[in-house]
Amino acid sequence: MSTQPIWNPQQYAEHARFVTDLGAPLIDMLAPKPGERVLDVGCGDGVLTKQLLDLGCDVVGIDSSQAMVEAAKALGVHAQVIDGHRLPFHQEFDAVFSNAALHWMVKPDEALRGIRQALRPGGRLVAEFGGKGNLTNVLAGLHKVLKTYGCDPATIQPWYFPTAEEYRARLEQQGFQVVAIDLFPRPIELPGDITKWLEMFAQPFLDLIPNSSQAEFTARVRETLRPVLEAPDGRWTVDYVRLRCHAVKPTVG
Ligand code: BEZ
Repeated sequence: MSTQPIWNPQQYAEHARFVTDLGAPLIDMLAPKPGERVLDVGCGDGVLTKQLLDLGCDVVGIDSSQAMVEAAKALGVHAQVIDGHRLPFHQEFDAVFSNAALHWMVKPDEALRGIRQALRPGGRLVAEFGGKGNLTNVLAGLHKVLKTYGCDPATIQPWYFPTAEEYRARLEQQGFQVVAIDLFPRPIELPGDITKWLEMFAQPFLDLIPNSSQAEFTARVRETLRPVLEAPDGRWTVDYVRLRCHAVKPTVG
């Protein structure tokens, strides 16, 4: 069973550009210097990777989606299809950057081990992704409707949303020094209807439902979420919670 959506760069640009727009302050936090080698883990369609390139970085983007990597390459970014759990790099980057991707890597220790290995001593990780409490309402709606189709929601956990304490412990276990780590709510008003969001991001749940019933499933989740996430003016707000961290690989040890 697939646990990753089949990403569509056009759909992403149209309905989820807010993900990269809101990731831009993370670049300030990274404070990249011209000439630095930066690895963008989960680069998606490369829009933020391109910003790093334009700032003079020698940047490599990796993503598990071929379509997204092609979109990144079309922006002139050096990008490769690589699973973030299996980074093949050895002490060659000054920094690892990651926006809205690490929650898809449900084996966080494998992802962090690869990130640590990719960094040169003294290199830094600056990342933001979904943290504890992310999408609580959306998940409740998905689970409620899934049960009516006879599916056990416990069988599907496509996302990893840790607390700051848990992620700090994992970082430290991998030998990182944590400079800062914060968990904070960031509700996001969608550019359109939640149906598009569900079609794009909730595919691992849709995969549990026969193709012929998926549209009905999505409509039922939408109706379930309506009283919680739709404002009287018809705008939808998703209950995002972000975990943002800055950690350094020590020069010794
Ligand atoms: C996010 O937090 O950015 C996110 C998590 C899971 C699915 C879609 C988005």
